[in-house]
Amino acid sequence: MPFLSETLSRVKPSPTIAVTNMAAELKASGKDVIGLGAGEPDFDTPENIKAAAIAAIDAGKTKYTAVDGIPELKKAICAKLKRDNGLDYATDQISVGTGGKQVLYNALMATMNPGEEVLIPAPYWVSYPDMVLLAGGTPTFVEGALETNFKITAEQLDAAITPKTKWFIFNSPSNPSGAGYSHDELKALTDVLMKHPHVWVMTDDMYEHLAYDDFKFCTPAEVEPGLYDRTLTVNGVSKAYAMTGWRIGYAAGPKELIKAMSKIQSQSTSNPCSVSQWAAVEALNGPQDFIAKNNETFVRRRNLVCEMLNAIDGITCPVPEGAFYVYPSLAGLIGKTTPDGVKIENDETFATALLEDTGVAVVFGAAFGLSPNFRISYATSDEALKEACTRIQTFCASLS
Ligand SMILES: Cc1ncc(COP(=O)(O)O)c(C=O)c1O
Repeated sequence: MPFLSETLSRVKPSPTIAVTNMAAELKASGKDVIGLGAGEPDFDTPENIKAAAIAAIDAGKTKYTAVDGIPELKKAICAKLKRDNGLDYATDQISVGTGGKQVLYNALMATMNPGEEVLIPAPYWVSYPDMVLLAGGTPTFVEGALETNFKITAEQLDAAITPKTKWFIFNSPSNPSGAGYSHDELKALTDVLMKHPHVWVMTDDMYEHLAYDDFKFCTPAEVEPGLYDRTLTVNGVSKAYAMTGWRIGYAAGPKELIKAMSKIQSQSTSNPCSVSQWAAVEALNGPQDFIAKNNETFVRRRNLVCEMLNAIDGITCPVPEGAFYVYPSLAGLIGKTTPDGVKIENDETFATALLEDTGVAVVFGAAFGLSPNFRISYATSDEALKEACTRIQTFCASLS
């Protein structure tokens, strides 16, 4: 009898965490490393949010709470969904978990059966396929193209749906590409989904507030109210409020699904951290003006990185609508050789050689299901980004 489970053998560890760890090890050994792998803002959590958490501790709000969230937070989430997305939800349609990650996992665990499929546009956030596999389902993929800024088309979606498709996972703005679907682009997809009533929509709106220039965020149930009864809208405070370590995410959807997700959570982690929930109440109800200020910084960094990367022969870097990632193609560098004789065969050999030669840590595209690309997280200082892009330019120029 093997000790480790068959379930475990179906999944791989998170490649983004692996890159972060590798960069940390090199740094500890004395190498001058610039890590562009981490998926979190470099800003601190706003003071009013920290103060709300401290007040919660002082008031003794440190006990178990209701499994899927305190009523105050559920109310704040309902108000947010109405204010920002025009969506009406009651508190019993809300589930709060330990990060958006747990909420997505709960939903898949609560609904997947063997043989059922989850359709995921590539490039995708690394955890989707593995979560589907852990839940006993089968991930299927539809690939975005460089020419469409990595967005999929209605025709592609229509062709990829099968009778076994249970969920379609949608993520805009996207990790890893930063691509955001406009209202019209999303409407084209929701029109297709209306033709397939057996398909549910899991929309991961984690980067909602990180939207730049004149891009306007929209979410499926808002664009197509006909999808309301089969949509799970997932969001969280991690990215927009610089609260990755607090671990609060949430979802809104049909009551029965929310109840099923709570059942899973009740037998795994119980409630998310009580103090973090009070901090999240303040995040959602408190002032929102710092988001626009942070976004100005992100836009400046995005433009800096795109300009410096697009100046490289062999690299093409679309300018994304949101999030804090760029996802350049390195198609023009495949087949070249480093001065040490390492052949760039794919995006993984590129990322490894880049890290070893220059100390710049990026995540290779194969991890996100679309190659040959790499992901840069620009949620770091302008100085670090300038230095990293200069090193990438020098590295690419040294290839022959
Ligand atoms: C697209 C996407 N969804 C969900 C998450 C998970 O967020 P949380 O930190 O709230 O679990 C991330 C975090 O990297 C993400 O990029």
